[in-house]
Amino acid sequence: MSTKITKKETKRDEFVIFAQKWHRLKTTDFIPESSLENLEEGKVAWQTPSNIALVKYWGKKEPQLPENTSISFTLSNCHTTTEMHFEKKDTNGGFCFDVVFEGEKKDAFKPKIQKFFERIEAYVPFLKEYHFTIYSKNSFPHSSGIASSASGMSALALCLMSIEKLRSPAISEAYFYKKASFLARLGSGSACRSVKGSLVVWGAHEQIAGSSDLYGVDFTEEIAPVFENYQDTILLVDKGEKQVSSTVGHDLMFDHPYAQNRFLQAGENIAKIKTFLKEGAVKDFIALVESEALTLHAMMLTSQPYFILMKPNTLQIIQRIWDYRAANNSNVCFTLDAGANVHLLYPENEKEAVQHFIEEELAVFCQNKHFIHDYVGQGAREILL
Ligand code: DP6
Repeated sequence: MSTKITKKETKRDEFVIFAQKWHRLKTTDFIPESSLENLEEGKVAWQTPSNIALVKYWGKKEPQLPENTSISFTLSNCHTTTEMHFEKKDTNGGFCFDVVFEGEKKDAFKPKIQKFFERIEAYVPFLKEYHFTIYSKNSFPHSSGIASSASGMSALALCLMSIEKLRSPAISEAYFYKKASFLARLGSGSACRSVKGSLVVWGAHEQIAGSSDLYGVDFTEEIAPVFENYQDTILLVDKGEKQVSSTVGHDLMFDHPYAQNRFLQAGENIAKIKTFLKEGAVKDFIALVESEALTLHAMMLTSQPYFILMKPNTLQIIQRIWDYRAANNSNVCFTLDAGANVHLLYPENEKEAVQHFIEEELAVFCQNKHFIHDYVGQGAREILL
């Protein structure tokens, strides 16, 4: 039997409870009122985390809506820091911005941001009023195979919300974060789960109060102590560019022979994981999380065209995790993104033993023996300039 805990009534929790009761917002609720205050110039900054999905988002429809509900752990050490400077310009013409990534002007990043701005213009009407300079950096190496779109897009969304708040100070905290997640989603689906922490659900689900296809919501159900401060070590098996971009990957789910069953399964897995998290059912959690990872890859193995995104070392690592788990009655498990890198998830009380195992037995399968220790975090934080 597991012990259950009740969350402490912190100010943040009070807000979460309020937000949960708050009605589900519609797309039109995110169009601001016209009476925004004028603002000549300024700068805002946010540090936003990456996240790792337990039940995966794979398959979407316009406008960037998920085919199924997903849930993720918000991370801590893997994050993006973005500073956005803005100054008034002539409102004629298109969007005007420059991108400086890790100290260097990066025009290669502009098309993605241009597309993001086009998608969100209706909700951020001041976009064409300013010239923006976007300074961004990641805590993890750019060429690490770790997707930066989640943390990168959520950082941009939060910066824009800070500007909206400066121009419209009356907006509530609940609205601020919901809209930030809503905007982030339009940049990259998984980015909407990189605003809050520590567990975030995206996609309407009848068993998750307040859940929506439009934005991510905090998972506020009870969770057993074993799932608090969960650890995630990312084993960098392949640091190259993604073999299949997310856009191409999600498109593979159109006309996929197993797509409809997969979407149903994901919904069922959300209901199951909710129970496992509450009851501290770690073995069931492991079976579900690993199955989700392999199902994601199975979708790519069975699509047209088909892809194998795992590398031989991915399988070596998985086999060793299974051997280690059996030999040590450990609760370590793996999950995968749409690539070859492996995320090792484990409870905090196994940190020392599992990290020793990683160094001794798994590092050898990583490119340049590179791995990153991370753990579950509390979401984005504003940097006051
Ligand atoms: C495999 O969020 O990168 O990581 O919405 O096209 O930007 P876009 O896709 P993206 O897809 C992430 C998919 C995944 C699973 C997940 O994070 O849920």
